[in-house]
Amino acid sequence: MKLESKLSKVSNRIKSSIIRELLKDASLPGIISFGGGVPDPKTFPREKLAEISSEIINKEYAMTLQYGTTEGDPLLKKEYMKLMEKYYGVDWLHEDNMVFTVGSQQALYLIGMTFLDEQSWMSASKPIYLGAASAFIQRGPNFINVPLTEDGMDLDYLEKNLEELKQKGEIENFKFAYVISNFHNPAGVSMSLDKRRKLIQLAEKYDFYIVEDDPYGALRFEGDPIPSIYSMAPERTVLLNTFSKVLSPGLRIGAVMGPKDVIRRITMVKQAADLCSSPLTHRLAARYMEKYDLVEEIQPTIKLYAKKKDWMMEALEETFSDIEGIEWVNPEGGLFTWLTLPEGIDTMDMFPLAKENKVLYIPGEAFYIGEPERNKMRMSFCLPPKEDIFEGIKRLRKTIETYCEEKGIELKIKTKK
Ligand SMILES: Cc1ncc(COP(=O)(O)O)c(C=O)c1O
Repeated sequence: MKLESKLSKVSNRIKSSIIRELLKDASLPGIISFGGGVPDPKTFPREKLAEISSEIINKEYAMTLQYGTTEGDPLLKKEYMKLMEKYYGVDWLHEDNMVFTVGSQQALYLIGMTFLDEQSWMSASKPIYLGAASAFIQRGPNFINVPLTEDGMDLDYLEKNLEELKQKGEIENFKFAYVISNFHNPAGVSMSLDKRRKLIQLAEKYDFYIVEDDPYGALRFEGDPIPSIYSMAPERTVLLNTFSKVLSPGLRIGAVMGPKDVIRRITMVKQAADLCSSPLTHRLAARYMEKYDLVEEIQPTIKLYAKKKDWMMEALEETFSDIEGIEWVNPEGGLFTWLTLPEGIDTMDMFPLAKENKVLYIPGEAFYIGEPERNKMRMSFCLPPKEDIFEGIKRLRKTIETYCEEKGIELKIKTKK
């Protein structure tokens, strides 16, 4: 039987993750990988979690080993509400404003299911987080791909496109703007307060929701925190947080907060997807939050990533500052920097050579819905130790030089003043 002829439209739209393909060799000996955005396992509080795990299985097994509610553990909600109030000034949350998902990735998928059809429109930054692109593309909507600048999306571009949709009588079909407000994946940049306010104004003017995806906001190394879009417009924003980068991705817990009617819809869709997420990991996270202050506990992790980011910046400066047309983002938090190489370099095409030289990155091409910018790459600094960061960047220089030589691309060396 010919499988393709039997597959659904959605299934036919799905491509396997480029990142997974590219990073198959990341753990081979001798390879230095700046590829995945995975936390350093040394940061996981394993002894504390082990102790709580044993207690909640022994003493709370009737709850932890049973099915749970679709929305998630009420105790986890209570603890999460306390955290939102204490650290983010969000003091209006009610249980009905929250649903826990299987990581933020499931939240993205459920939001796609809840809002998008083939006639729908949405906007996202260009570049876009690959996992969000996969979740939304499945629904087949139309995208406004909004260029990203150093202080967030180009909102003039968005407004111009929204106005055009309005003129065409299609603005009703514009469902939401998808935004990564802090330390963008892959681009490392954050949206300024002015732009957050302006986006809210646009949402009010053109009547759409904002989906604020914020897995990295708590991982700030420097600069002042910026209020979340959700905290300024809770009636039209859906906020996606996750335990993945602040406790452990293995728990697979995402926290979705938003207006009650939206949360109810998302919960209904989730019910069809999985009935409920794991009461066991929910209770583990809840008891952890009850016993320890999540934000205080991650301070050593933040310090570690801050150091790694500084080493990465130092290595890039040492290795590339003499070449014209190479730029990189110095992020104030999160896990990524975003490199722009001189025009003509195609980072996907260069990837096999990098692999030969035993250094891995994610080619920029992976992060675009429309026409990609081929001379970009995402580099994650959270996993490799110091010496590997410096050695990996050296290998990258060698890779770029060899690639340019082979392709006849002239690398312009800056003249010393
Ligand atoms: C921007 C963004 N959103 C969502 C996710 C998904 O995170 P998780 O499903 O682990 O919560 C990630 C993971 O890297 C991410 O970078």
